[in-house]
Amino acid sequence: MIQYVTLGIDGADIRAARGTSVLDVAIEYGICIPHLCHVPNLSDLGACRLCIVEHVKNGRSKVTTSCTLLVQEGMVIRSNSEKIRRLRRNIAELLVAQAPNSRAIQDIALRCGVKEVRYPFRNRDCVLCGRCVRACTELFNARAIGFVGRGKERRVASPFGLRAEFCKQCGVCIDLCPMTITPCDGPMAAGEERLCGKCEAQLMVTEPMPDQCTWCQLGEGFQCGRY
Ligand code: SF4
Ligand code: SF4
Ligand code: FES
Repeated sequence: MIQYVTLGIDGADIRAARGTSVLDVAIEYGICIPHLCHVPNLSDLGACRLCIVEHVKNGRSKVTTSCTLLVQEGMVIRSNSEKIRRLRRNIAELLVAQAPNSRAIQDIALRCGVKEVRYPFRNRDCVLCGRCVRACTELFNARAIGFVGRGKERRVASPFGLRAEFCKQCGVCIDLCPMTITPCDGPMAAGEERLCGKCEAQLMVTEPMPDQCTWCQLGEGFQCGRY
């Protein structure tokens, strides 16, 4: 039998099934918590950290990723405080610096209020979100790809170069990768990377009500979780 708990997110009382993550519940109730590495129905890694929230307990608040935080009775969550917006902006800025050629990341950064990128551009082709690896493993049990290496050497590859034959050619890893959609004007060459900003006109719509999802459809093709 499903057991329910009641929690508060941004002042709203919400009833949720025990075992659900705070992020899933927020999405279900139309509270927009930006996220990148989360994919509905797959396990959560807490890799991108975009979905951070404040968990308030005994008068103290702890910043934590909402995709890995399970709902509890009486818990109090702030998803859109000034502190969270500032931290999230910085995380989004770092992501754009890593991968300016991802439209999904550019769009998320703009939605988070990033106005400039103060970090050096790296122009990487992978942000280690793990969406592809989890889809391959958990949806298809193929295990054709995985993370290899550590630290700066960490990347997605066929483990030990031996598993490529396990690939079922389903293409889901590509569909779910945030790097597969380039900015509208095409890939930015080395030395020309920038915050795109082309979608700013649409973003203006979200500013007066930043805690409500407006179905902005930014990051077309990149599923934000509301579909
Ligand atoms: S195309 Fe191959 S590597 Fe990609 S998710 Fe499917 S089975 Fe895994
Ligand atoms: S290849 Fe794409 S989906 Fe896979 S970890 Fe890298 S950025 Fe994420
Ligand atoms: S969506 Fe929660 S850490 Fe990426």
